[in-house]
Amino acid sequence: MATAMETRCSRVWSSFLFWVLGTLSQGLVGGAASYTRQLSVELNPGAPSVPLSSELLHVRAVGNNDTLHFLFSSQGAPTLLLVHTNTSSSTVKVSWPQFLARNTSGSLRVEPEDSILYSTAVLFSRLLEYDDVNDTATPTSNFFPPYELQNFSWSRFNLSGPTALVCGADANFTSGSLCLQLSVFESEGHGNLWPRLLHSANASQLRVWLDGVLPRADHSRFLLELQAVSGAAPLSRVDVHQSIDDEFTPSIFKVSQWVSSENSSSDILGFVQWKPVAYRRPSPAVEDATPCRHSDPRAQSEKAVAARSGLITAFFSGGEAVGLNVSFGLAGEPFYNSTKFLSWTALVGIGSPPVDSFSPLVLTIMAVCLGTPMILLLLGGVCVCLHKRRAASETAYEPIN
Ligand SMILES: *[C@@H]1O[C@H](CO)[C@@H](O)[C@H](O)[C@H]1NC(C)=O
Ligand SMILES: *[C@@H]1O[C@H](CO)[C@@H](O)[C@H](O)[C@H]1NC(C)=O
Ligand SMILES: *[C@@H]1O[C@H](CO)[C@@H](O)[C@H](O)[C@H]1NC(C)=O
Ligand SMILES: *[C@@H]1O[C@H](CO)[C@@H](O)[C@H](O)[C@H]1NC(C)=O
Ligand SMILES: *[C@@H]1O[C@H](CO)[C@@H](O)[C@H](O)[C@H]1NC(C)=O
Ligand SMILES: *[C@@H]1O[C@H](CO)[C@@H](O)[C@H](O)[C@H]1NC(C)=O
Ligand SMILES: *[C@@H]1O[C@H](CO)[C@@H](O)[C@H](O)[C@H]1NC(C)=O
Ligand SMILES: *[C@@H]1O[C@H](CO)[C@@H](O)[C@H](O)[C@H]1NC(C)=O
Ligand SMILES: *[C@@H]1O[C@H](CO)[C@@H](O)[C@H](O)[C@H]1NC(C)=O
Ligand SMILES: *[C@@H]1O[C@H](CO)[C@@H](O)[C@H](O)[C@H]1NC(C)=O
Ligand SMILES: *[C@@H]1O[C@H](CO)[C@@H](O)[C@H](O)[C@H]1NC(C)=O
Repeated sequence: MATAMETRCSRVWSSFLFWVLGTLSQGLVGGAASYTRQLSVELNPGAPSVPLSSELLHVRAVGNNDTLHFLFSSQGAPTLLLVHTNTSSSTVKVSWPQFLARNTSGSLRVEPEDSILYSTAVLFSRLLEYDDVNDTATPTSNFFPPYELQNFSWSRFNLSGPTALVCGADANFTSGSLCLQLSVFESEGHGNLWPRLLHSANASQLRVWLDGVLPRADHSRFLLELQAVSGAAPLSRVDVHQSIDDEFTPSIFKVSQWVSSENSSSDILGFVQWKPVAYRRPSPAVEDATPCRHSDPRAQSEKAVAARSGLITAFFSGGEAVGLNVSFGLAGEPFYNSTKFLSWTALVGIGSPPVDSFSPLVLTIMAVCLGTPMILLLLGGVCVCLHKRRAASETAYEPIN
């Protein structure tokens, strides 16, 4: 009887111990190695050597038997086009005279055409400013004339590896500029600036910031209008998910995903993902974070969207266009003029959006905080087992005496 109890007791505790160790080590190692892509960067592919009025960046990201083409251009409003193909040998062909004339569909092609699995383009169409006199942060009235990003004069791309920076200004900006930075990645990781979004080899990151532009009122707040055109299903809905409060984006508990899928139950084909936060300083502290909100995606005229962007005109012929606004700041939050700076970051990618999990630091803290009481509990259990065993053996011996 004593041995039966002893074995049952130790079996229960040892299986519990294995379960704890298994769970912790699984969490710490964090799944399999991430998907990687081989990147190559090309500026103005196949362009004549004459000076160009606008530039086109092509980042080719080759995976296992597939290629993701990232095309970025400021011909018109800044636009990022993603084309996913089912071969590692697809190429981009540009007919430069037509591409620069901005009036011919098909002047930018990805070949072979039947290898294209999915394509989507996101463009930054307008910067809107309103005078929030009553500090309600509800952008419904008191709008100033919008800044049309297609009418900005854009700098040449400042390239460093698979990262491109472009800044532009409106003729009406008396100072400052609007900048965009595109980053493409070989593998999974976190950005080095807040919100430190988790990216993968299937997603690029766009950081947009407004620096030093004079507001047209003391109580000015801003909105950014985004538009998208997709070859297959349009980016039709925004899902808002709970996100963990991590060391990467302190105090933000949500993540917004503007996704393209046939219907709510089918696979996600492409996405724009962001955390609902903007920052009021270039090197922000926690108190420089300002919440942002988005409007519901609305259908847009594809012709009007294409008219804004040379890249969309060149690649798409038709397709469905949608748009939404991202507004910065809530009632009671400081106005733009407090720092004259705003930055916002989003990922644009194919397939399912990346999902943040607990970081190694948080896991270590959890392991220590949960592990210590568990070890104490285990030791306690072992003591109880031993004690019971001794008690059992004592009672077992007693009748003999
Ligand atoms: C890529 O395609 C080749 C030939 O079709 C096949 O043998 C190989 O297994 C594929 N690799 C992957 C990772 O799918
Ligand atoms: C495009 O524009 C160019 C020059 O602006 C013109 O010569 C050409 O006919 C136009 N093409 C189309 C299809 O409109
Ligand atoms: C994928 O690759 C095969 C073989 O190259 C091709 O026949 C097919 O049409 C491609 N496209 C798609 C969308 O699967
Ligand atoms: C601001 O508040 C005043 C007084 O409550 C009101 O008359 C005015 O219409 C409000 N302005 C806006 C833009 O809401
Ligand atoms: C820029 O200035 C012109 C002339 O003053 C004005 O008509 C136009 O509305 C202004 N545009 C913006 C975006 O403020
Ligand atoms: C922007 O450019 C378009 C076309 O070039 C023009 O029609 C429009 O009036 C411009 N908008 C502003 C605000 O300057
Ligand atoms: C390009 O960007 C780097 C940092 O990102 C900056 O130091 C450099 O001055 C920029 N070059 C130009 C020509 O703007
Ligand atoms: C990236 O896309 C490829 C091809 O669709 C897929 O096999 C892979 O699992 C994706 N990786 C991630 C991290 O989403
Ligand atoms: C911003 O506007 C408010 C309201 O008019 C004003 O009190 C404040 O001085 C302005 N701040 C800056 C930095 O200009
Ligand atoms: C959703 O789309 C998939 C194909 O993408 C289809 O098989 C399925 O029937 C659709 N479901 C609904 C509810 O429409
Ligand atoms: C963004 O907001 C402006 C101003 O309210 C509105 O005119 C525009 O239609 C909105 N854009 C989208 C795509 O909802």
